[in-house]
Formats: sequence, structure tokens, C-alpha cells
Amino acid sequence: MKGLVLSGGKGSRLRPLTYTRAKQLVPIANKPVLFYGIEALAAAGIREIGIVVGDTHEEIRKAVGNGERWNVEVTYIEQDAPRGLAHAVLISEEFIGHEPFVMYLGDNLLNKGIAPFVQEFVNTSPAAQILLTRVPDPQMFGVAELEAGKVVRLVEKPKEPQSDLALVGVYMFSPEVFESVKQIRPSFRNELEITDAIQNLIDRGFVVRPHLVEGWWKDTGKLDDMLEANRLILDTLDRRLEGTIDSHSRVEGKVVIEAGAQLTDSVVRGPAIIGANAKIEHAYIGPFTSIMNNVEIRGSEIEHSIVLEGSILSDLANRVIDSLIGRNVRIIRQPIKPSAYRFMLGDNSEVGIRW
Ligand code: G1P
Repeated sequence: MKGLVLSGGKGSRLRPLTYTRAKQLVPIANKPVLFYGIEALAAAGIREIGIVVGDTHEEIRKAVGNGERWNVEVTYIEQDAPRGLAHAVLISEEFIGHEPFVMYLGDNLLNKGIAPFVQEFVNTSPAAQILLTRVPDPQMFGVAELEAGKVVRLVEKPKEPQSDLALVGVYMFSPEVFESVKQIRPSFRNELEITDAIQNLIDRGFVVRPHLVEGWWKDTGKLDDMLEANRLILDTLDRRLEGTIDSHSRVEGKVVIEAGAQLTDSVVRGPAIIGANAKIEHAYIGPFTSIMNNVEIRGSEIEHSIVLEGSILSDLANRVIDSLIGRNVRIIRQPIKPSAYRFMLGDNSEVGIRW
């Protein structure tokens, strides 16, 4: 059994961050979201993993390497443009060969991993096994209709969903799927949809098994989903304090403070993580916050947020909440005249100001 991780795509819903970074490398609890997927495949016993990459291939290769860190062997498969999930399968035929495989969307997170689903697939050997979960907004996903426990119809982003069962971004296939991805045509968004390929398997009389996911699942393509995924993952961490914490500081609850981080006269209330060499001075880091390596938070308060490498928050009058702050960003209180806001923001930035 092989693994296929899809790590192309433009990440347009996470701009401006994704102008300069692959969406799959944006960290959740200080670890790239893509790594959780690779770990889930490795934990399910999969040793050969193909990663389909697009424009951001260099950055992904640099971050993932050859996979030895997870005791897996990684092969990179280049996709010339984001032509859809079924197109990614199409170009991976040579890598997969005649084996069954698990396809994992690189921006998806599942709290309980995938080992039991893979086992179930191996034991029952259907043409495909899909994971489903109930969602409040099915029109945003691929949607499955079941009859007597069987999948009868699948529709990608239906305008009028006939069920609230969304396709989770983890799929298990037998090599039959290669014929299906060759038979389907591009969709309304001009992509070869994996949802249509699975429908094609059903139309050709093959068995597609549904499995309802019980734990949580997140597609981290948008800011709110990133923050929620961050919340869910932080909650699973064990307390570990390795940095330097002075006697005026307080660390409450599930908190990770990495080696080299320095806390001075500050309060960290977990669940939260502070990366290596971060400097937290006269500050408050509230619940559900991930502070990456080399960040400085001085005289400021922040909670329910993610701050990426090298950014500085200094002497802010109001608490920062619900924010995703990119790399090397500086938010600094300055004695400028006239009393005003002063911005230098990238394209598609978003700033919320109290009025
Ligand atoms: C893709 C699939 C969709 C699935 C979703 C899960 O959507 O096309 O069927 O429900 O992933 O994350 P996309 O992220 O391409 O909009």
C-alpha cells in the first residue's frame, strides 16, 4: 500500500500568507500542517509516499526532504498547474503502479489519524473507501448521498446539497481508479474532480465504501479553520517547559516552551506553545496561541492567534486576538505625529480595528 499526499494548489483563501509560502507549510501548533498528514500515513504503516507538488515545490522539498525523519521514502511528482485532485491521481499512476493507495490532501487534519480506516479498507478491499463527516455548510465540499449504508451519488460543491455528509480529504483507492480518472471530464471549475472519478467507479458497478469519521476533521484552507485546528491540536499537547522562565513569570496549564525561549515578567496561559528562541517580555500570551521561533512579544497581549517566525509585537495598547500574523511582521507602537495608524501591508492583507 502506498501513500499519495497532494501538496499543490494556490491557497488563495489564505492570502497574503500564501503569496510567499505554501499553504501546506503554514504551521499548526508550530508544525507544518503537511507534516501531520505524513505522520498519519507513516503511523498507518505506509512507507512509500508520493507528494504531488506545484509552484511551491522547492519549499516543500526543502521542508520535507527524503522522508527519513518519518522513516518513509518520499518521491516528488510535479503537477504543471492545479488541474484538480483527479488530475493529481492521473499523473501519479507510474508511481503507484498496481497497488492500492491512500490519497491524503495536504491541508487536511484528522485528530485520530487514519490507521483504523486503512485497516478496514485492507480487510474489505472495495474499489474505494471514502471518509465522510457531517458539516453545516455542505455546499462547500464534495457531498455523498447514502442509501442503506451504500454510497449512491457524489456531487462536488452542490448548490442544493441532498445530504450534509461531506467528503473528508482522505481517500483509499484500488488501481481501478486510474481508469475512472481517464474517463471523466473537467468540472464547472475546470478541474478533474476526484468526486466525479469516484462517481464513475459507482457507475461502472464498483463498490465504494463509506466510513463516517467520529473524531474531528479540519480542512485548514481558511483563517478560521486554521485557528480552530490550532486550538484542537494545542489542546492535545503535554506540558513541557524547556526555555528560561524568570521568577516574575507565570506559566499556567498545557504549555510548551521550547529550548532557548525566554520569558520575562510575563504570563502564559495554556494551551499555548512558544517556539525556540522566542522572547516574551512584560507580555500576556493567552489560550490557543502558537508563537513560532524567534518571535518577540514585548509589552503586549495576544490570544487565540498564530504568529510566524521572526515577527515582533511591541507595546500594543489593545490585546491582539483571532489573528494569523506572517513571518517578519512588525507591529510596533510608535510616537508618531499626528496620532494615526501607519501601515505597510502586503496585497490582500486584512486588518481589524476597533471603532
Ligand atoms: C476538495 C474536494 C472536496 C472535499 C474537500 C475536503 O475540495 O474537491 O470534495 O470535500 O477537498 O477538504 P477543495 O479543497 O479543492 O475545494
